[in-house]
Amino acid sequence: MNIVLLGPPGVGKGTQAQILAKKLGLKWISTGDILRKEVAEGTELGKKAEKYMKEGKLVPDDIIIEIIKKHLSSSGVIFDGFPRNLSQAKALEKIMDVDKVIFLNCPEEVVIFRLTNRRICVKCNRVYNLISNPPKNDEVCDVCGSKLVQREDDKPEVIRKRFRVYNEETKPLLSYYREKGILYEIDASGEVSEITKSILGVLNE
Ligand code: AP5
Repeated sequence: MNIVLLGPPGVGKGTQAQILAKKLGLKWISTGDILRKEVAEGTELGKKAEKYMKEGKLVPDDIIIEIIKKHLSSSGVIFDGFPRNLSQAKALEKIMDVDKVIFLNCPEEVVIFRLTNRRICVKCNRVYNLISNPPKNDEVCDVCGSKLVQREDDKPEVIRKRFRVYNEETKPLLSYYREKGILYEIDASGEVSEITKSILGVLNE
């Protein structure tokens, strides 16, 4: 099964994708995580992507498609943060069939609160939340003991820009997939485990 997780910045796509990939034996492909790794390693691709990410803009489609092709696997895939616009959705169709698109929906004020409290580990990239999923020790990763930091694009002005980009470029995908009959909307305002249960319900239908 190939699944796409769609939704606004900070709604919990990465959190759910990680859990679902493990439970269902799918390969988790997060374009955001892959790009952040490329930036951290200072690769050519990372250098090209960095300026767009810092400003909360979408990275050009050709870079994203190159990444997707590089990371595809023959097993089922769960996409987190891809596709982000119509041309990426059409490019994906040429590569593989998408079975279900899960739209995680949540009021904007809830996701902004989640984003401003998100911290990530500088070394292993594990994601925390100071309110809903705090580290055991103050601002230090439970797994590798490294420092936790705020993502550069989680600053208020960049969050606002990311929401604008989401509304203008990604939201049109909702009607695109609804017309294809593969869009399933999930209320993502509750607890992590409740949301996972709702998604699994839809995937098992
Ligand atoms: P990306 O990393 O994909 O950013 P995003 O879509 O804005 O999503 P986030 O990673 O911010 O949030 P999320 O929905 O995964 O939430 P999370 O689970 O972390 O992309 C970053 C940038 O890369 C883009 O701006 C763009 O520049 C570029 N890019 C990436 N993909 C691209 C593409 N396809 N095309 C072009 N450019 C691309 O959760 C957020 C916080 O909330 C965490 O702290 C978490 O612990 C907490 N949390 C999660 N669920 C809950 C819950 N139910 N209750 C309480 N807290 C919760």
